[in-house]
Amino acid sequence: MTLTLILLLVSRTLHNLPLLDIKGGNLFGNPWHRGNLTEDLKGRICYASSPKIKDQIDLGCETNDFELFQNVDFTNASYYMEYLGFKNYSDCSVKQRPFVPDVPVIVSGASSNHYEEAVAMCNNLNSTLRKKYTDMKLIIFDLGIGDSDRRDILKKYCGCEIRKFPFSSFPRHVKNVKGYTWKPLIISLMLKEFSFIMWIDTSIRFDLNKPTYPLFKKAQICQIQQLMEPDWALVETCDIKTMEFLKQNITDFMNTTDVEAGWAVYLRSEFFIERILKPWVSCALTYGCMLTDTYSYAVGCNRPKPNVRTPGLCHRFEQSVMGIILAKLYKEKLDNVLFGEKIYGDVQRGHSMAIPEDFLQKFHKITVPSR
Ligand SMILES: *[C@@H]1O[C@H](CO)[C@@H](O)[C@H](O)[C@H]1NC(C)=O
Ligand SMILES: *[C@@H]1O[C@H](CO)[C@@H](O)[C@H](O)[C@H]1NC(C)=O
Ligand SMILES: *[C@@H]1O[C@H](CO)[C@@H](O)[C@H](O)[C@H]1NC(C)=O
Ligand SMILES: *[C@@H]1O[C@H](CO)[C@@H](O)[C@H](O)[C@H]1NC(C)=O
Ligand SMILES: *[C@@H]1O[C@H](CO)[C@@H](O)[C@H](O)[C@H]1NC(C)=O
Ligand SMILES: *[C@@H]1O[C@H](CO)[C@@H](O)[C@H](O)[C@H]1NC(C)=O
Repeated sequence: MTLTLILLLVSRTLHNLPLLDIKGGNLFGNPWHRGNLTEDLKGRICYASSPKIKDQIDLGCETNDFELFQNVDFTNASYYMEYLGFKNYSDCSVKQRPFVPDVPVIVSGASSNHYEEAVAMCNNLNSTLRKKYTDMKLIIFDLGIGDSDRRDILKKYCGCEIRKFPFSSFPRHVKNVKGYTWKPLIISLMLKEFSFIMWIDTSIRFDLNKPTYPLFKKAQICQIQQLMEPDWALVETCDIKTMEFLKQNITDFMNTTDVEAGWAVYLRSEFFIERILKPWVSCALTYGCMLTDTYSYAVGCNRPKPNVRTPGLCHRFEQSVMGIILAKLYKEKLDNVLFGEKIYGDVQRGHSMAIPEDFLQKFHKITVPSR
């Protein structure tokens, strides 16, 4: 079973690559004055900041003494973690590097209010990535698209697989789609099947003139590439209850940039699974961690005064927790695992289109032949 084929060791040779200067200086420290990440980041070292973690990447399973969230109670998640196969992810018996395809499987998800955005996403994918990667696999998770007709039309239009998200297999709070706890769960379900995936929210748009190959390459080396969030400090965009649940000191995140969770590339490697995905998913599965009872504060962030950072001003769920995890793992090396929005595409929230009329007519002709 492919579950056991997850071990990828970033070889020592990676650590011998030259470490490029990051334009704009230490971007970790000061989110107000970030430089633009325009350089080609190929060849950057992707190690995390703690010597222990660096050892871990070098040695694989042999050192296993770093816990990101010590003393955090995730026992309520453990049943589901087993269902998701996390027990087997830590199987260290398979040491060879898994086969990593050049192009990731594209994964997205939509509920009914993002249907037209998903249509526009597929229209965009066909005229960009699919032109170059004709065999590219696209999977859209149905988070409540509506009737099967709408689902079948989208499936045909996108040339994709549509899977129903198994809400009933998870704790009740996951059903609150506005809590985004489903996203880490989709990502772990996908990584059980595929070794290399790219998550895109339905608002992500690509551009023929912005090749994504360097992004894929970086993700293969670094095991994770996450969209950068240049404007917000993590302390502002994370519910204080989440910080408390994870036993974090909010002052540690005063100057830490948040990340964006709408676009990311992930590699099934032991490091990614154990150090990033596992805590992320554990938190998603535990009510009060990623989704708290103050989640209604999550409406858009608006600073009362420019340049004043208010702890817990708003909450971004899966994004906030991914931000904490990456900040703790990578510290001042955070930019190694981030990419800038405009380099490989764009976030175009609300960019939508209806299924074209001629497509609908053809669809109904084929599926409902007249007698
Ligand atoms: C980043 O790029 C934008 C647009 O190209 C430019 O206006 C801005 O000055 C740049 N910022 C820095 C810090 O270089
Ligand atoms: C675990 O679930 C039980 C029952 O729902 C709940 O009372 C308890 O507070 C939960 N514990 C944590 C740490 O989430
Ligand atoms: C884990 O691996 C074992 C042995 O390979 C297998 O029998 C078991 O079904 C797997 N568990 C899960 C949850 O996939
Ligand atoms: C998009 O591309 C897929 C895969 O080639 C294809 O199945 C689908 O019909 C295309 N959709 C449109 C609207 O061209
Ligand atoms: C959080 O960190 C700050 C600065 O390091 C420290 O002064 C404060 O006591 C810490 N708070 C807690 C609850 O540990
Ligand atoms: C955050 O950065 C500012 C400006 O660089 C600095 O004055 C402040 O002490 C920093 N705060 C923390 C908690 O590190």
